[in-house]
Amino acid sequence: AVELNPVLKPLSWLLGTWESDEPGEGTFPTIKPFRYTEKLHFSHVGQPVINFTFNAFHAESNKPLHRECGFIRIQPGTNKVAFIIAQNSGLVEVEEGELTGNHLKLQSQSLGRISFAKEPHVQQIGRVLQLRPDGKLEQTVSMATDNQPLTQHLHITYTRSS
Ligand code: HEM
Repeated sequence: AVELNPVLKPLSWLLGTWESDEPGEGTFPTIKPFRYTEKLHFSHVGQPVINFTFNAFHAESNKPLHRECGFIRIQPGTNKVAFIIAQNSGLVEVEEGELTGNHLKLQSQSLGRISFAKEPHVQQIGRVLQLRPDGKLEQTVSMATDNQPLTQHLHITYTRSS
């Protein structure tokens, strides 16, 4: 195995594969609440960068739904963290925020999208990823769209599978 770049040590709790233990909850004022499962994979190749994929599925049919992949960087010597993300919906984003212990709080700094992205368009994203004392990983995502203020869209917990 390639040795972990020391810059990534504060984020090493993310590394590996995670699977939702029970279905996550999807909500938003404009949609019918839904349930989903999700697999996360965080890896590295020795660079000061984490590579990640998030793959979500319909809780009942197992049909693939939302997918994200990208990179995580930390500004060396600080607690400033950046996520560089591409989503299968046609959205790309840069999120930045702070790492406090095993708690990451991020906000979108820039969003881009394909010219034929579905409406309403996302205008802002907030994300919290944290390793809980019970060893589970928890993710909460909020978003603002053209017609809704920043409101929670996703909440899910994962257990480490490798
Ligand atoms: C709906 C964005 C992640 C499942 C939506 C809508 C937006 C959106 C803008 C439409 C809201 C409206 O009509 O007012 C995002 C963003 C995500 C994300 C930015 C990640 C940062 C996910 C994930 C799932 C998911 C992980 C899991 C399956 C859905 C479903 C709907 C929805 C089922 C309602 C039906 C539909 O419009 O397709 N999302 N989403 N989303 N999202 Fe997400």
